[in-house]
Amino acid sequence: MSERKLTPWVERLLYTSSSSTNIRRYRMQAIANNLILHLHPTTVPAPALRFSYTWGLGGISSLLAVVLIITGVLLMFRYDASVERAYTSIQFLETQVAFGSLLRALHHWSGNLLLITVFLHLVRVFYTGGFKAGRSINWLIGLVLLLMVVTFNFTGYLLPWDQLAYWAITVGTSLLGYIPLIGSGLSNFLLAGPEVGQSALRNFYAIHVAVLPALLILVMSYHFWRVRKDGGISQSLPQTGERVEKLTTIPHLVQIEFAAATVLLAALALGSMLAPAPLEALANPAHPPNPAKAAWYFMGLQELLLHMHPLAALILPGIVLLALAALPYWDTREDDIAIYFRSPAGRWAAIISAALSLVLAPLLVVLDEWWLDLPTLLSIWPTWFSNGLVPLLLTFGGLAAIYYGLQRGLKANRSEALVGLFTFIMVSLVVLTIIGIFLRGPNMALVWPF
Ligand code: HEM
Repeated sequence: MSERKLTPWVERLLYTSSSSTNIRRYRMQAIANNLILHLHPTTVPAPALRFSYTWGLGGISSLLAVVLIITGVLLMFRYDASVERAYTSIQFLETQVAFGSLLRALHHWSGNLLLITVFLHLVRVFYTGGFKAGRSINWLIGLVLLLMVVTFNFTGYLLPWDQLAYWAITVGTSLLGYIPLIGSGLSNFLLAGPEVGQSALRNFYAIHVAVLPALLILVMSYHFWRVRKDGGISQSLPQTGERVEKLTTIPHLVQIEFAAATVLLAALALGSMLAPAPLEALANPAHPPNPAKAAWYFMGLQELLLHMHPLAALILPGIVLLALAALPYWDTREDDIAIYFRSPAGRWAAIISAALSLVLAPLLVVLDEWWLDLPTLLSIWPTWFSNGLVPLLLTFGGLAAIYYGLQRGLKANRSEALVGLFTFIMVSLVVLTIIGIFLRGPNMALVWPF
């Protein structure tokens, strides 16, 4: 095991406290080291320390979760989960409580950022094959975490009880009703009634501040434990006879984590000071805004709904989620682990699919908005067929064409073709979300953003 030479200031920072004259500091350091070594192994392979491999996205997500829990507990001291007082309690917090506005902004931006960092972490794990070589359980646990983070954001959205909150949740929960068999039961359970009101607010609050945090802590702890149990983060297979250099966690890994955490917290604090969390007018069930939009992370789904029967628009992401869950059993090749995009052919598959999606997704949106009218064209059929099954089958046909086209045209293997398919789906999701957020105006018609 080789030791990297430390710069003198790092050495002073880390080791001066171990002098026998400063027992208290030595003890503190021993406790801190002990805690760190409960989370990390004592040594880590040198390639795993490359920031450009993980981009620190798992660690950043963990830190954001901690910030959310701390700021969330502090917000609970002032927030009142009743439809008469929720909005005024937020106004009070914003204007009368010292640092109340900053606290709320920190909670708001951390929650939104967490959605992005968890999504990017999933993308990183996918492209480096981090779900391979015995890591399938952790990939599935990760998917559960992703769903939990989305539910966390969704339940928190309602709490300020302003127009934005009320109508985003009304739009969001009305989608649930379209899920066959369990849809209306699920929506009734969440809202504790047919519409968004006091019972829904109480339910969302309980799920947001008690159920989800407890579950998140449990599932996250299991996720971390599994990373260690699976042999640490993914590593490329060593060439025969090659020895992988190992470095001690303290200080090599810890100093990187410390620097990343400092930068993140500073950026978050600065961002929260400059941009307070939004608060619109008090919720008014009689006056829906036009357009009534879902929360931004559901705008891709809302965009799909403008083009397909709701059942089809829900089946599509459902099948993508199932396919993601099946991924470790679909792509079982292990020799390309820890190589971004698997190979040069995989990289080309990603580039071609991204370009295809950037052209096709906006083109289809525009085509369907102004020219294509499937229900009129197939008017002898019910809409679930003409506007549901037909576009759904066309979409799956298109995805299959990309998958097999890459295998034939690029001579890509299954793993590389999946890189292309995944890229196409993720880029399309981002494009639809951007169209939904910025290019939809009154009556959800397409508009220019400027
Ligand atoms: C709250 C959400 C999450 C947190 C806090 C979290 C945290 C972490 C951390 C700290 C690591 C160690 C390596 C790294 O930093 O990249 C990791 C690895 C991993 N995560 Fe997550 N994660 C979350 C969500 C997810 C999601 C959504 C997925 C995918 C569906 C996922 C799948 C994995 C896998 C398979 C590994 C091992 C990767 C490898 O060995 O390269 N995680 N996660």
